[in-house]
Amino acid sequence: MDVWKAAAERARTHGDVIVLAAGQPSTPAPAPVLRATKAALDAELLGYTETFGTHELREAIAGHHRAGYGIEVSADDVVVTTGSSGAFTLIFLAAFDIGDTVAVARPGYPAYRNTLSALGCRVIELDCGAQTRYQPTVEMLEALPEPPAGLIVASPANPTGTMITPDELAALARWCDAHGTLLISDEIYHGIVYGDHTPTATAWQTSRESVVIGSVSKYFSMTGWRLGWMLVPPGLRPALQRLASNMTVCPPAISQYAAVHAFDPESRAELDGHVRRYARNRALLLEGLPELGLTDLAPADGAFYAYADISHLTDNSTRWCADVLAGTGVALAPGIDFDTRDGSHTVRLSFAGATADIEEALVRLGRYLDARVGK
Ligand SMILES: Cc1ncc(COP(=O)(O)O)c(C=O)c1O
Repeated sequence: MDVWKAAAERARTHGDVIVLAAGQPSTPAPAPVLRATKAALDAELLGYTETFGTHELREAIAGHHRAGYGIEVSADDVVVTTGSSGAFTLIFLAAFDIGDTVAVARPGYPAYRNTLSALGCRVIELDCGAQTRYQPTVEMLEALPEPPAGLIVASPANPTGTMITPDELAALARWCDAHGTLLISDEIYHGIVYGDHTPTATAWQTSRESVVIGSVSKYFSMTGWRLGWMLVPPGLRPALQRLASNMTVCPPAISQYAAVHAFDPESRAELDGHVRRYARNRALLLEGLPELGLTDLAPADGAFYAYADISHLTDNSTRWCADVLAGTGVALAPGIDFDTRDGSHTVRLSFAGATADIEEALVRLGRYLDARVGK
């Protein structure tokens, strides 16, 4: 967010900014969603809805999971939330107590760590490197002094884009079930995968005691609509119902009416077009960054991020990103947010934007780096 602020300032003063720092698509919601929004403005009251979301949307989400993963899911299993961010706060409150330990991957999405800490949980950061595709393993859990109350996994992950194999996800889910650990599987980047990583596994294929998190933010290109969801085991639903009805009453009504159409075939065709563009952008970066000397990249199996080691260039990624922005107008995300230990020498590049922007960013970064090494 600090980088965004600096980028906005640079845009005002220079007008030349290319933002590769944002973790969001560069496209609006799909056309059927936009049409449904306009219709809902005329036809619907847009008052509060049921706390867990409208039946129509919960049914659409359940259908998405049935069709995508071949599992039985009903509308009753679905809890619609205010973004997946809202889902995390609710499930942490419902499932964990103050002092509970919850394991997360490092590097990882910082809001898990920050929200859990704010709620009084003890966060265990599992040191996940290239050997395990930056993902937690059963061996890491076995090495803990005692089973944690919770484990959060994200596949594809932010900031690395790496994925957990279906077998490993199943093994993690079985371990969690056997040890009384609640597995929270962040699957919000599903649908944005490359190479032979389809079909993507869901934790509910192995354990219906786990919690699956989804969102319209990433694949569905609807970040600002603030709509996410969870698949939750029955035991957690009463607590979630009480918490959600007190804390938010319901997720945004207009977004719910509209999002029903995010799963339409016409929407899917439009969204798959975005994924094809991400794939082209990814190929450009995976070829272009090593030519600039950024050779140590996490394998970007999915999502829209390249995560690069820049230890040969700096030991302060925040300062380096500020300098790159000042020198080139290209905004990058310093790794320090995702990895409090090693992120001072990593950087995340989002390739969710236009292909022309990726090409131009590579040219500018090339010039910047050449000038630094005196070429
Ligand atoms: C891994 C991961 N989970 C959750 C979120 C939150 O997304 P939202 O609240 O928009 O659904 C993000 C946002 O970048 C993310 O990268």
